[in-house]
Formats: sequence, C-alpha cells, structure tokens
Amino acid sequence: MSADPSEPGVIRPGHVVLDQNGDVAQLHGIGILNWNGRFYAWGENKAAGSAFTGISCYSSGDLATWRYEGESLTRGEGELAPDRVVERPKVLHRAADGAFVMLLHIDSSDYADARLGVAIADTPVRPYRYLGSERPLGNLSRDIGVFVADDASGYLLSEDRDHGLQIYRLSDDYLSVESLVTSLLKPGATHGYESPTMVKHEGLYYLFGSDLTGWSLNDNVYATAPDLAGPWSPWRLLAPEGSHTFESQVSVVLPVETSHGRRFVYCGDRWQRDELFSSPAVWLPLRIGSGRARLEWVDEWTLADL
Ligand code: DGJ
Repeated sequence: MSADPSEPGVIRPGHVVLDQNGDVAQLHGIGILNWNGRFYAWGENKAAGSAFTGISCYSSGDLATWRYEGESLTRGEGELAPDRVVERPKVLHRAADGAFVMLLHIDSSDYADARLGVAIADTPVRPYRYLGSERPLGNLSRDIGVFVADDASGYLLSEDRDHGLQIYRLSDDYLSVESLVTSLLKPGATHGYESPTMVKHEGLYYLFGSDLTGWSLNDNVYATAPDLAGPWSPWRLLAPEGSHTFESQVSVVLPVETSHGRRFVYCGDRWQRDELFSSPAVWLPLRIGSGRARLEWVDEWTLADL
C-alpha cells in the first residue's frame, strides 16, 4: 500500500483500520479534516471500552495507510476523568488564526450530563487544551457533527432527546453555540436522529443520521434541503432496507476533491459492543446527486475509484 495519491492503498470496509505499527487505529466515532493535502482524523480511543481513555489522532494520504500521530486529548480530572464519556471528536480549522477547534460529546457514565465540550490547539495533532462544556442554549447535547459553510460560518449538529436533531449556528470563533437554526424529528416520534453529519452538494444540503439504538445498528437515514432552515425533505434510507446500513452507524460523510469533481466517502462504525476497541470501520464510496444519496457495498476500493 502506498500513501502516494496517484497509487492509493486499498480500503476494506468491515475490517479494522491498522496504523503503521499494525495496531488497531482508534478512529471510532471518527472526525476528519483534509488539511494541507493530508487527511487528519480523530477518534475515540476505546482501550477502556466506553469509559474515556483519550482522543487519538492519525493522518493519511489515501484513507488506507494511516500514521498514528499521538493522543490529542488525554485523561485528566473533572469532565475528562477516567469514569467519564468523551465521544465523537469533530475538528474545525479556524481560518482566521489557524487554530484547530475540537468539539466533543461530553457526558457522565450514565449519559445524563449530555453536554458539548470544546478544546483548542495550534496544530491538528496536539496538545489540545480543554476549555470546558455547555448545554447548547440549555438543551441536551449527545452525538454531534459539524459543518463549515463556504463563508466559513460553522454549524453544530446535535442530538437532543427532548427536541430532535438540532442544527445550531456556532459563534465565529467556533467555541460556542450562538443560535438555533432548526430542529428535525423522526416521523411519528418526539425525538430525532443521532450521529449526525452533513455535506452540501450542487446547492442542496444532505443531512445524515442514525436511529437511537445504543450500540445496536439500524437503517440510517438522510434528508435534503436547499436551506439549512428548510424545508427539509422526508427522511430516506441510504442503504438497502434491513441491511442496518451494511451493519454500521454513520459518523462522517467526507467530501473528497478528485480530478473529476467532488466525491463523498461514508465513514461508519460497526460497533462491537463487548469489544469496542476492535470495532471495524465501514468506509464506502457514497453516491450523492439530484437529491439522492446511495450507499452500495464493495469489498475493496481505493480513492481512485471515487
Ligand atoms: C449511540 C451513539 O451514537 C454512540 O456514540 C454511543 O454514545 C452509544 N449510543 C452509547 O450507547
């Protein structure tokens, strides 16, 4: 395998991701950025199962060959104590000063705290300085995703059991939540979806999420809208019904610029409840266009196939 983009390595959905040492990359609940021509990714280090161990950072040229860069956030006290839950690291690059802002799901071990955490660093890797947490506009916030618009304005996608899947506008420095854009519910339910991620393509926003089933997998869904405030389309399945999204939960849909235009990669987790550390990654090309998103299974692929 090679990190040379002209000869990308092979990605095997349903297998664990290995780093340069042959260790299982702790890229669970992945967040990912393309920075300076390289992918930087952060994940939940599940060495202690669901209890907080660290946020690990890796980099890659081709999404197949990964270099372990170190721990971006490590155990400490208070909200980062070993009995806490710290999940779904999502990093935004602040163009104004080059800082990297990491947003996180911060929780107690019983998932009752439901807060949004924030940390900041000068480099993508480390050290990140933990700044604290908030409940966005007083609301519950568990699984999160982030989105940066063309004008660099930042958005938080957040699962709020009381009000649905929330889209919030972030402050210009990305460090706090400024205002609510809209709330989306699952049809017939009083809650929304979790593990949200969003991309914009050909003038339409595509918002993805999963149902609320703990570590069990379900048929994930997406909706589209011409404006973040809506109107949003009905929710649709992105993979064959009953496949549980090819036994995975979406974490991120990653835009990738190719020689023939922008393409998308679905990055999901195949959670192994009793051995979260070794949960395989399900990363697949995701076809997006004309208001539809479609995930199809392939055993192997490379970035050149996008
Ligand atoms: C579903 C979430 O998507 C995961 O990140 C994790 O919080 C589990 N629930 C815990 O049951």
